[in-house]
Amino acid sequence: MAEEAKNSGGDAVVAAQSHDVDVASAGTAVISSDAVQNPGLPPHRKRVTDLDPQKAKRQERVVYSLFYISIAGSLGAVLAYMFFPIETGEMMAIRLHTLFVGLGMALALLAVGIGAVHWGKALMADHESIDMRHPVPSDEETMQAAADVFTVSNEESGFSRRSLVRNSLLGALIAFPLPGITLLRGLAPQDQDPVELAKHTMWTKGMRLARDPSGVPIKASEVTIGSAFHVIPETLNHHDFEHLNAEERGGSENFLDAKAKAIVLLMRLDQSELNELPERESWSYDGIVAYSKVCTHVGCPVALYEQHTHHLLCPCHQSQFDVSEHAKVIFGPAKRPLPQLPITVDEEGYLVAQSDFHEPVGPSYWERLK
Ligand code: FES
Repeated sequence: MAEEAKNSGGDAVVAAQSHDVDVASAGTAVISSDAVQNPGLPPHRKRVTDLDPQKAKRQERVVYSLFYISIAGSLGAVLAYMFFPIETGEMMAIRLHTLFVGLGMALALLAVGIGAVHWGKALMADHESIDMRHPVPSDEETMQAAADVFTVSNEESGFSRRSLVRNSLLGALIAFPLPGITLLRGLAPQDQDPVELAKHTMWTKGMRLARDPSGVPIKASEVTIGSAFHVIPETLNHHDFEHLNAEERGGSENFLDAKAKAIVLLMRLDQSELNELPERESWSYDGIVAYSKVCTHVGCPVALYEQHTHHLLCPCHQSQFDVSEHAKVIFGPAKRPLPQLPITVDEEGYLVAQSDFHEPVGPSYWERLK
């Protein structure tokens, strides 16, 4: 069978060769004709707006109505921002705020987009043109031709002529960024100096250091060399927080804000490994040091402690801080050391703060405003 197939295959090759010889004599190139013919452009069909001025007028109304809807959407988003403010801790208020501001912005963007596309499809000139390739730079004649194209485009699109459509489009485009600008207001605290806010936390003289999240106070004797604790002020729990006044809350209005500012990392090193500045020697207790857990780059929690090197690592952008050298930055984008919390012990042996931090916690932006 194999021999047979081989023979038949060989016959086919011979047949094909003999066929080529029939078609083209030796020394002549064989050029096969294109299997697919260029179909060219389909016949041009005029739109109803080209044939009927009444219909063109109607579509014009549709277009500027869409642009007006876009303006309404933008203004609606601004109004929603004002009438559905985010109330701290109110989930429903946050939902309504997000819903209505989002709906307004979506309507503004959608309407201006659909309006622009519809204007182009229904009203602008509808003819096909072929632009041949040409060398760069263009000569005078070509540049003049390009300028003519703009002039003709202007006439055909009706940008100058259809003033209602043009002005409503410009209005929609001007109004569209307003919600975005309005939302920026939400980034600044209401009626409070942001520098003052960042400067103060819940830590006060004598406040016990407690485990996060249980709130159990920590005794100095429990902190062994090499260990690290995630720490909060003792009164930072949902029950006590309700009864604190504004000053005791460190200027924060709600529990999460207060916690975000006051969180601390506590570590114990061998006393001989601590290279402390003379003026800060009293800020630690028997090799135990406490630093803000809020990264001075953009505020992520610096939560990874490497016991052997005494390095703290921020997982967000890999800033590293050396705990043995007052948490100075040894790598990464952070620009200043983590603020240190001065600590000591009370008469029962519990670790307590000597005072609040001596500088603002968090990103370096606040430090520059000090
Ligand atoms: S937030 Fe810590 S390195 Fe960027």
